[in-house]
Amino acid sequence: MRFNRYSAAIAVAATIQTCAAQTYTDCNPTEATCDPDTGLATYRFSTDFTTGDSSFDGWNTTSGTVTSTDLGALFTISEQGDAPTIESEFYIFFGYVEVKMRAANGTGIVSTAILESDDLDEIDWEQVSTFNNEIQTNYFGKGNTTSYDRATTVTVDTPEDTFHTYGIEWTESATNWYVDGALVRTLNYADAVDGTNYPQTPMRIRIGIWAGGDPDNSEGTIEWAGGETDYTEGPFNMYVESVSIINYNPADTYTWTDQTGSYTSISAANGTSDGTTLSSSSESSSSTTSSSSSSSSTAVIPSTSEGSSTSTTGESSSNAGATATYGGCASASASTSSSACASTSDVVYSSTAPVGSSGWSSVVGGFSLIFLATIVTAMMQL
Ligand SMILES: *[C@@H]1O[C@H](CO)[C@@H](O)[C@H](O)[C@H]1NC(C)=O
Ligand SMILES: *[C@@H]1O[C@H](CO)[C@@H](O)[C@H](O)[C@H]1NC(C)=O
Ligand SMILES: *[C@@H]1O[C@H](CO)[C@@H](O)[C@H](O)[C@H]1NC(C)=O
Ligand SMILES: *[C@@H]1O[C@H](CO)[C@@H](O)[C@H](O)[C@H]1NC(C)=O
Repeated sequence: MRFNRYSAAIAVAATIQTCAAQTYTDCNPTEATCDPDTGLATYRFSTDFTTGDSSFDGWNTTSGTVTSTDLGALFTISEQGDAPTIESEFYIFFGYVEVKMRAANGTGIVSTAILESDDLDEIDWEQVSTFNNEIQTNYFGKGNTTSYDRATTVTVDTPEDTFHTYGIEWTESATNWYVDGALVRTLNYADAVDGTNYPQTPMRIRIGIWAGGDPDNSEGTIEWAGGETDYTEGPFNMYVESVSIINYNPADTYTWTDQTGSYTSISAANGTSDGTTLSSSSESSSSTTSSSSSSSSTAVIPSTSEGSSTSTTGESSSNAGATATYGGCASASASTSSSACASTSDVVYSSTAPVGSSGWSSVVGGFSLIFLATIVTAMMQL
């Protein structure tokens, strides 16, 4: 871990600063009443950024200019203050995201692909250009930056000269980071302050670059970034060839039903009627305490969700059936190649259809999917 090389004081400064450029929220639902989040209503969303302007459909450029090129979306830092960034116009609520990218070179340039929620839950990939043989993983829960042990450094073969696929598999019980399909880190729910600081609320995908080595940054940040950026060596270019997203709980909206920031407080709904959302929410809480009507899933879930919060487990057998395929997709992707998941997507998508029509709230149905996905993944690792 990089932070071992530095004093705690510097590490704190760096930790706070590293997320600064792309970390923000317009409304924090743990402190205020916010509009519901716009969800990705489909199971999959994929972008090939080599295909021209239309490839930015579904993406919003929130800073600078990002263009489509033969190598993918081009993010450039030419001068001080440049920090081109795009974000998905939609949120996902647990899922799988992979970004195929070539990071920027130079000194102190940070290429990032992150997931971030309204209350500043965050899951990160960050490549610091000074070190062309590694990339960092990190996470935050509810914007808590007080610990020093969240980041890890992963060895990667020339990430600034070579496209690699960086994956994040995010479920209610664990988050896995993958490089080119190989698992490089697992964060369990219980490992993040007993779940309190586990990222667990609807996230947008945010991709961009910024100059950690900018001479105006704090000393700690510049040191973390491996030195001062010399803009005359630029321009510094990051390319993102493609992004593939799976939303484990497709929905039009995600409503925060209280200020806990807990995943059990999120209500997923389609359509605009209040009834849908409210009923979703109340079903969700009632089923938390009910015993499941279906056999096999209840038997298995408690043992593997150990450490997870209070959950949720009512489900129909049709949901369980959908799930098996689901987990298969996620782990296939992990163990083979980034495209493995894509090849099974049609099957998976159609099997999840019964979830919405089963009468259970999608929150509950989605969680059952995730539990089983986790089991399948765990079994495949044995
Ligand atoms: C796009 O980003 C801009 C700047 O942050 C913001 O004002 C606008 O509302 C965003 N649009 C969408 C569709 O998210
Ligand atoms: C970055 O890479 C480009 C092209 O690969 C090269 O021309 C440039 O000299 C590199 N810049 C630095 C600072 O290494
Ligand atoms: C923030 O994280 C630290 C340790 O990582 C933990 O001790 C503390 O309780 C957390 N604070 C909150 C408000 O969750
Ligand atoms: C919303 O509609 C999508 C697409 O039909 C479906 O996959 C999803 O399960 C629905 N979500 C909810 C919360 O009903």
